[in-house]
Amino acid sequence: MRNILNIGIIGCGKHADNFHIPSFLRLKNKYRIIGFYDLNINRANYLKKKYKVGNVYSSLNSLLKDKLIDVVDICSPPTFHYNQILKSIKKDKHVMVEKPMVIKSLNLKKIIKKNKSYKKNIFCLQQQNFRNETEVLKKFLKNKEKKLGRLLGIKAKAHVNFPKQINNSFTDKSISGGGPLIDQGSHIIGLVGHLFNYPKIKNIKTILFKKKNIKKKNFVFNIETAARLKLIFENKIYFEFDTSYLKKKKKNDFNINFLFDKFSITWPNLNYIDHQKREKKIKITKNKFLASDKQFIHFHNIIKKNHKPLVSLSNILYIVKLIEDSYKLSKVIKINE
Ligand SMILES: NC(=O)c1ccc[n+]([C@@H]2O[C@H](COP(=O)([O-])OP(=O)(O)OC[C@H]3O[C@@H](n4cnc5c(N)ncnc54)[C@H](O)[C@@H]3O)[C@@H](O)[C@H]2O)c1
Repeated sequence: MRNILNIGIIGCGKHADNFHIPSFLRLKNKYRIIGFYDLNINRANYLKKKYKVGNVYSSLNSLLKDKLIDVVDICSPPTFHYNQILKSIKKDKHVMVEKPMVIKSLNLKKIIKKNKSYKKNIFCLQQQNFRNETEVLKKFLKNKEKKLGRLLGIKAKAHVNFPKQINNSFTDKSISGGGPLIDQGSHIIGLVGHLFNYPKIKNIKTILFKKKNIKKKNFVFNIETAARLKLIFENKIYFEFDTSYLKKKKKNDFNINFLFDKFSITWPNLNYIDHQKREKKIKITKNKFLASDKQFIHFHNIIKKNHKPLVSLSNILYIVKLIEDSYKLSKVIKINE
């Protein structure tokens, strides 16, 4: 059996360009890029020319009809993922899809149901889970369970720069599905769920901070600028998450603080304060692979070696539903320009 998976890329924006394609090229004993499709054909042509690989398809159907392709890698904006996943599994393709996997939990339930007959591997790329810092922290939490005491609360921040985007893919809700709450929230909630086994939720409160909508010739902005989510898990652990597209500095403010009875630990720098109030750092062991490479190696192992996915579709359903409910239950505060 052939070891290399032939891949077709759907959506040829920044993320495919800066992360996915360089990864596939590094992992050339596992993946071969067969071609590109983008709604904007110039983007597909650009990537073909830049990396000197693959064909350009003029429609999604022509990519999906290509029998050479085993796997599609969906990097289009979020609201297109649902239809593109369904079409792909119907055409016998395995699917990797960027976060947020889908906007509506009902759509993910439909995918799960349909895939009972198609039996394809569908994997949502929750890249934060593959970071060294995450792997080291997960082990630390397991090994030090007794020393840490009870988890009391989690405070997370994701204040990031205004996204560079193509065709309003982050700022037009009809394309993005929402603002930083869904974009950054899928990273943070995905990571918290992964570390603490997707705890049941008791109570959600959300505030969305909204500026005036903008609709100019090439720019649409109708998402929240910032969001504050406060929730209580059934085991009484609190989770607070602040996120925005307000960051102007070079470095993003993207971190999580875990508060235990006797310890507090921050991710991703893995500093901790122990029960004697000593400041320490968990040693981050080096790993030769980047998180983006590791997630693709993992998907290759799912298909070729029948490995269990690190994140299942029911885990993704948890993330999607939590974000969906957070929007549904949100209070909107209008802020001035
Ligand atoms: N894991 C991460 O850290 C990370 C980081 C950035 C983006 N992403 C995710 O990757 C995806 C793409 O983000 P990006 O930063 O590349 O956005 P982008 O704005 O740079 O590019 C989006 C591309 O999709 C194309 N497109 C739009 N509609 C399409 C359709 N119906 N079919 C095919 N192509 C279509 C656009 O023309 C554009 O080329 C999003 O889901 C985003 O959340 C993940």
